[in-house]
Amino acid sequence: MARLRLPSLVDIHVHLREPGGEHKEDFESGTRAALAGGITAVLAMPNTQPPLIDSESLALAERAAAARACCDYGIYLGACAQNIAFAAELAPRVCGLKCYLNDTFGTLRIDADDLRTLREHFERFPKDRPIVCHAEGQLAASAILCAHLANRSVHIAHVSRADEIALIRAAKERGIAVTCEVCPQHLFLSLADVPRLGKGRAEVRPRLATPADQAALWANMAYIDCIATDHAPHLLREKDSDSPPPGFPLLEVSFALMLTAVHEGRLSLEDVLERMAHAPRRLFGIPEPEQTWIEVDTDLTWQPRGAEMFSRAAWTPFEGWTLRGRVESVTLRGAEVYRGGISYAVAGTGRNLAAR
Ligand code: NCD
Ligand code: ZN
Repeated sequence: MARLRLPSLVDIHVHLREPGGEHKEDFESGTRAALAGGITAVLAMPNTQPPLIDSESLALAERAAAARACCDYGIYLGACAQNIAFAAELAPRVCGLKCYLNDTFGTLRIDADDLRTLREHFERFPKDRPIVCHAEGQLAASAILCAHLANRSVHIAHVSRADEIALIRAAKERGIAVTCEVCPQHLFLSLADVPRLGKGRAEVRPRLATPADQAALWANMAYIDCIATDHAPHLLREKDSDSPPPGFPLLEVSFALMLTAVHEGRLSLEDVLERMAHAPRRLFGIPEPEQTWIEVDTDLTWQPRGAEMFSRAAWTPFEGWTLRGRVESVTLRGAEVYRGGISYAVAGTGRNLAAR
């Protein structure tokens, strides 16, 4: 092995919980966690409290991020029936539009039967700016067709089922403009892991799937554009409660999981960098900052421990796994912001990717 200098990673699906959920994570804790995972830019989801659906709510997240972010960031606007008329005006301030078609954490939603709202957003949001859909099962087919009819591309978040990746593959083979991401939890965990994790801790959306679904994702890696974490921090006392919220914190282990898969010969290092660095930058138009890189020890074996994480969630579904490959240091715009488990980043120095 080796100590390698690699391009820094970009995570296009992250929940940082500001405004309204700061006890779970905020822009500082979440971006320090990102840097520890080799990620120098995160795209933050809008299912906050309040949800980010208009200029005022967006400003709450913008101010929090400007004050506290340690790495670069973009912020998504949430689509709903109430903001059809003005979502497009807000496009310059955001990294993309997020449409939640399925039930998940928070209240932000486009009703599954509200076809009109979905089509209006697809028609009106600038066609050259990303739209990301949480659309499972048949709703993925709905999102892909609506985007196609609107003459635009759509990105399907956290694809987790064999039928979904087969659908996306078929659409791509017909030249339809669709991209997708898969998350580490659906590549490395399945329903077989639920007893070990426990019911509350295993809650995640999309739910963990069958080993056959898991195998289908690996078999169709060629059709997976990005690996994104869907870092969804919740505290252990919430996960272990009677109504456990769905989601896993993943920023600090995702790259190590993928490096472990490289060691196992499941894909190449280039395959991983394409999906965690190059494709995310291309799809969202995020240039690589100058003097920015990560150093990785691809041989080092280590065991993730929730208690050692920067994320306020402080737990991981991969607790005690033996992973091979670890981020040693991160340099962002010439400043070493992370090395050997210590965060040196200064809160508020992360840049809003929309302010270009
Ligand atoms: C996410 C969250 O907690 O915000 N939870 C999850 O299980 N992924 C919401 C989401 O992305 O669906
Ligand atoms: Zn999410």
